[in-house]
Amino acid sequence: MGIRKKFNGRTAFVTGGSSGIGRALCLALAKNGAAVTVADKNFSGADLVASEIIRGGGTAAAMKTDVTDPGSFRKALKASLKKFGRIDFLFNNAGVGFSCDFRDCTARDMDMVFNVNFRGAVNGIMEIYPLMIARGGGHIINIASMAGIIPFSINVPYTASKFALAGLTLSLMAEARDLGVNMTLVCPGVIKTAFYDSITVKKVDRKKYVSGLPSRMMGPERAAEIILRGVAGNKKMIVFPFHARFLFMINKIFPSLIYLLNKAMIKKFRKMSSN
Ligand code: NAI
Repeated sequence: MGIRKKFNGRTAFVTGGSSGIGRALCLALAKNGAAVTVADKNFSGADLVASEIIRGGGTAAAMKTDVTDPGSFRKALKASLKKFGRIDFLFNNAGVGFSCDFRDCTARDMDMVFNVNFRGAVNGIMEIYPLMIARGGGHIINIASMAGIIPFSINVPYTASKFALAGLTLSLMAEARDLGVNMTLVCPGVIKTAFYDSITVKKVDRKKYVSGLPSRMMGPERAAEIILRGVAGNKKMIVFPFHARFLFMINKIFPSLIYLLNKAMIKKFRKMSSN
């Protein structure tokens, strides 16, 4: 199905909608005729995105939402339902990055990352899933990462949280689809967003760490286009760009190569570390 046909006249709720991939998703959804709820803990950022959509002739509302707080998520979903009548698409996109040598990781660090990247999505699903079942339709899109399907050293908390989200999505998929609720797992590789400005990097200078990432990254607008095309085609899983698909395939066929890559990555990280 074409993107416009899929989203025109429908409603979407996007968490982490004020920045990066979430912002690009909101703008693209609105451009394709959807009424969009821009949900973010950063309300002023969400408001800017909603205002940009409205100025361009689209329909949008900004909602302050902390996905880690079930009460805050519930309140925003209720307000969105009141405003737009229903939610056809829930994009669980809010996320935080976290890189460290795991010996420096605390239980609090793990909780913080899991609370946003995993529990944050669970909080939304718990609210919206029963409503979608009752209505006999809806689509939940979980933005995990290539780190949700390929293990990466130096990113244990992040990788574990995204594996949890991927596991939840893939295991719920058949159950949900049987009840008329579609699910899509999205696993992007490295995308050029503010994610890398706010990523926590323990004991290594963030700028130094980020400068080691691939320099030719895909932009969020192109990422949003790929995601929406996949959702319109009702894909179960969207893995992109090429480097993510390539590493995913290598991990399936030669997992020991990923292990070697991880050994090299942690060696490099430890060289940069103040440990
Ligand atoms: P970003 O940093 O530009 O945007 C993340 C958004 O999430 C921000 O607007 C932030 O305010 C919001 N957010 C953070 N914690 C929140 C909370 N507790 N409640 C509500 N909103 C919250 O990052 P980006 O790159 O757009 O990331 C979007 C998603 O894509 C994340 O889940 C990330 O893990 C995932 N991803 C990003 C990749 C990248 O290379 N940029 C690669 C793979 C996955």
